[in-house]
This record gives sequence, C-alpha cells and structure tokens, in this order.
Amino acid sequence: MKTLLRGRVLSFHADPSETADNHRYIEDGAVVIDGGRISAVGDYAALRAEGLREIDHRPHLILPGFIDPHIHFPQVQVIASWGAQLLDWLNGYTFPAESRFADESHAIRMANAFLDLLIDHGTTTASAFCSVHPQSADALFAAAEARGMAMVAGKVMMDRNAPESLSDTPQRGYDETKALIARWHGRGRLRYAISPRFAITSTPEQMQAAGALADEHPGLHVQTHLSENRDEIDYTLSLYPGARDYLDVYDGYGLLGPHSLMGHAIHLSPREVARMAETGTRAIHCPTSNMFLGSGLLDAEGLRASGVPLGVATDVGAGTSYSMLQTLDAAYKAAQLRGCKLHPLAAFHWATRGNAIALGLEDRIGTLEPGRDADLVVLDARATPAMAMRLETVETLAEELFLLQTLGDDRAIAETYVAGRPMKSRPGRCGGAFWD
Ligand code: GUN
Ligand code: FE
Repeated sequence: MKTLLRGRVLSFHADPSETADNHRYIEDGAVVIDGGRISAVGDYAALRAEGLREIDHRPHLILPGFIDPHIHFPQVQVIASWGAQLLDWLNGYTFPAESRFADESHAIRMANAFLDLLIDHGTTTASAFCSVHPQSADALFAAAEARGMAMVAGKVMMDRNAPESLSDTPQRGYDETKALIARWHGRGRLRYAISPRFAITSTPEQMQAAGALADEHPGLHVQTHLSENRDEIDYTLSLYPGARDYLDVYDGYGLLGPHSLMGHAIHLSPREVARMAETGTRAIHCPTSNMFLGSGLLDAEGLRASGVPLGVATDVGAGTSYSMLQTLDAAYKAAQLRGCKLHPLAAFHWATRGNAIALGLEDRIGTLEPGRDADLVVLDARATPAMAMRLETVETLAEELFLLQTLGDDRAIAETYVAGRPMKSRPGRCGGAFWD
C-alpha cells in the first residue's frame, strides 16, 4: 500500500555552495512512498488520492534523512571522555573501550544501541568504523540489515601502536576484510568500506594490503583519518620517512580517489590540497570532534574553493553529539572562528545531498525525488520551549533551519523513516513487517 506523508517538504539540489537556488520547498507538500522508494513529491492538493494511507506531519518539515559520513560505532561508551588530545585520547579511552568488542554479545548490544541512536537523531545512513574484530562488523551489518538501513562500514585494520588485543596482522587484516566484503558488501543496502584506521596504526605491509584490497574491489569505499593533530602528523612522518607529507602515505599505497573518505584533513599543505582535488578524494569535516580534542579549525571554505569534495560528520566518540543538527551548529561556529559564514541552506544541503555526494550515493539517497530511497527525517522546530519561543519571531525558511541547527538535537526529530518505514516512533525498531 502506498503512503502519503503530508508536511512542509524541503529538498536540496544544485551546487553545494549556492544557497538561494539550491533547494525546493513546498509549503503544503507531500511525499508518496511505495515499497521503500519515493514515488512522487509535490503539492498535497495534486498528490492526494483515494486509497492512499495518509500521515499528516504538518506543521513539521520533511527532509531527506541525515547522512553521517564519519563515525565510530565502538565508541558509544567513549563519547564525553575528559581531558585528552588525539593520541592520549586513543590510548587512554578509545583502545580500552574498543577491546571489549572482542566479545560478540557486547558488539551486538552496542550495534543495536548505536543504530537506534542514529535513528533517534534523524540519521539514516552513516559511514562507520567498527573495531578490529570482524565480529564487530558482523554485528553492525546485521543490525543495519534488520532495520533496512543503507550503511557503509568496515572493520578497522591496525597492526601496530595499539594493544595486542586490538592488533591484527597484514595477512589477517586482509583475510578478515576480504571475508567481510564477501559476506556483506552489496547485500541489500549495505556497503563495505576498507578501513585502515590511520597511518600510525598500520605498518607499510598493512597499508600495502589495504591498497591491494582497494585494487581488487574497485568502487568500494576506503575510509581513514588524515592530518587531524600536529603530534599525529609528526609521528606519521617519522614512521613513513619516505613520504612527502601525510597524504602521500596513503597515495603511495593507491588509497586516494573519489571513493576515499579522509576524516578531519585539517592541517594540509597546498600540495596535499591540490592532490586531494586532483584525485577526487573526499575530506570529511568533523567540527564537534575537532573542537573537543583541540585538533584545530578546518579551512572548509578554502578546501571547497580548491575543488576538494567535502562531507560533514559527527566523528562520535571524539565528536560530542550524534546529532547532525548539532554538527551543523559546530560547523557554523568553526566557520565563525575563521571569519567565515555558513548559510543555513548550505548547511542543510551539506548534511543531506552534500554528504550523499561525498559518499557517491547521490543517485539513491540525499534528495527527495521519485525513484530515490524513502529515507526521510521530520523536523519539529517547536520541540523545546526555547525553540518554540524563538520560532514566534522567525520569518523565513532559512531562519527556521538556523534555529533548528542552533537549538535542535534529537528532540527536534519528530520521525525518522528508513526505506519508507517510520523507525523512531516504532517500538522494537527492527525485524518483521509492521504495516502491510
Ligand atoms: N584517528 C585514528 N583513530 C581515530 C579515532 O577513533 N577518532 C579520531 N577522532 N581520530 C582517530
Ligand atoms: Fe574518526
């Protein structure tokens, strides 16, 4: 049975840097869903019909679901850890927490909690790092499949500078990744991402294995970290003395390209920026994380002007919120600190279509158009008393979006639809048919 969602429909298109003409807004709009896909978008008056189940979301906004292109699923219990910058934070908080994912039952419990948190915050697709243990990736993919979510994920490859319990070897990392790709990649809406954690935790032999995997599986995502922290960069260059710079380490193993997602990418030389643009390598801005760990302020505008495709992500657990609204708020503040302005229409483009483009999935998700997957978020700008009071004086759509990103969080997510199914309000969240 087809379902019609009625509300104020907002979707983005065109160039990420444009604002005035980058969106389509329908005041009394409708999105018709048929079998997990969007079958029509337009005026409610034109689309209403006999036999359609109607859900009235007025006065809320209906947007494409948020996309989070860089997040760590084994860090559900790391978020909000005090007092450290990157390398101490990894050793003191993150590695001990990730060690627990050797236990399959822990991994399963965390995977379900993690995906429910994403849904509660309006995020319908993420690119997620798992722990080194293949059972952590199995747990996440199985939980995503049960929810019908389009997830990109991979077990991290790491074979040095980490506790024994978190280390694989070049061969084991390769074999386990290969088996996970065979098991999960392309199954339903799931995609595998080859995930060497970062240069510090992989030997050259392991980087070579990661490059071989990318070579053997063209089109698969590669996700890692790049130039987040000054000490990290110095240490990396001491471990790879032959590399011209940090990016060159990954370049040397064939790990750049339009499917490669580089978390952070803050402290880059002009050569690295030019090389990222030349290869189409994605930079993923992680503003709450960059401020929380004191890593630095990304020159997002400069990167974009140089032609580097840019995503924006939470990076939980160094990031401090699962909310893409809060992430846009941090991106706005990071821009302010650099004397730049992020327009709300550009910000919401970024968290939806922009991130779909960063992941190369813009043909399936990130916009509301017939034929696309029905991943949607319903936003309530009256969700809290503070929001409701401010909304009284709001006059434009852009102002309302800015209010949502500045004051909103999971409370502003009235509903999240995954492949056409309402998931936030639904008890149980996964398994079985519940409508038809
Ligand atoms: N660099 C390598 N691993 C990590 C991680 O888990 N989080 C962040 N923020 N940076 C990293
Ligand atoms: Fe990260």
